[in-house]
Amino acid sequence: MPTSSSGGSAPLLQVNSLRKSYQQRRWLSRKKYEVAALEGVDLAIARGTTLALVGESGSGKSTLARCLVRLEEPTSGEIWYEGRNLLCVSRAELRDLRRQIQVIFQDPAAALNPRFTAAEIVAEPLAIATHRSKKEQRERALDLMEQVELPRQAADRRAGEFSGGQRQRLAIARALALEPKLLILDEAFSALDLSIQAQIVNLLLDLQAARGLTYLYITHDLSLVGHLADEVAVMFRGQIVERAAPAALLRHPQHPHTRALVAACAAMDAEGPGPRQETG
Ligand SMILES: Nc1ncnc2c1ncn2[C@@H]1O[C@H](COP(=O)(O)OP(=O)(O)OP(=O)(O)O)[C@@H](O)[C@H]1O
Ligand SMILES: [Mg+2]
Repeated sequence: MPTSSSGGSAPLLQVNSLRKSYQQRRWLSRKKYEVAALEGVDLAIARGTTLALVGESGSGKSTLARCLVRLEEPTSGEIWYEGRNLLCVSRAELRDLRRQIQVIFQDPAAALNPRFTAAEIVAEPLAIATHRSKKEQRERALDLMEQVELPRQAADRRAGEFSGGQRQRLAIARALALEPKLLILDEAFSALDLSIQAQIVNLLLDLQAARGLTYLYITHDLSLVGHLADEVAVMFRGQIVERAAPAALLRHPQHPHTRALVAACAAMDAEGPGPRQETG
């Protein structure tokens, strides 16, 4: 069963001893070997808060995200969401719970069909998962666009006509369509210029305040973590090796890998911002 950390209310999501291994084949070899992507991950996220999950490439962050929404089957462990172990629920229950946990993967803007209109993109999950009429779907899509600070008048513009930052907002509006409680952002905005990322982070904070959303913010870059996260978990070779509040982690990193991440972030800050790619 989920345990309550620090004596507060039960976390929205709690992961216990999660393991995931992949069978891989060496180049031009028939022999398979096992790669342990997750080696007993424990973590908990309190309702309405943000946990940042940071770690180098290949440390297992995306594998964890995919396991949390059952796009991958974990090898063993428990995933508790609102008192239910996601690995033991029925298909029907899982379908219902999957609406409550939405993921935005890397470069979501690129995944939006440029020929679809903004309203069509945002309304698509409603068309698939609800019985709302076309008119209701469109009305809801327009409301969602407003909530991510896109003008309603832009509803009939094609996705390809929006800037990168605006397309990210469309991706967020679409993820919010089914009123999730937990949003997993897996390097979702890493491809954007830092100033645009900062605007998106501010939007995420506003949405969290208005809707009580819980975020798992996955990134390899610590730059915006202090602004968004209540807590940071550092992942290294399939394990969480350190957890701390952002300020404490940035000032006193304990694990050698955390120190390397903090040093990399400081070096990037010293270099200053790169060339601007766009303005919104
Ligand atoms: N489908 C798969 N088949 C085989 N091995 C995989 C698969 N997906 C991930 N892996 C391996 O699992 C490990 C963790 O990968 P994962 O993509 O979760 O890392 P990550 O932390 O998200 O990295 P990045 O920061 O580059 O996105 C890596 O060694 C990777 O090669
Ligand atoms: Mg990844």
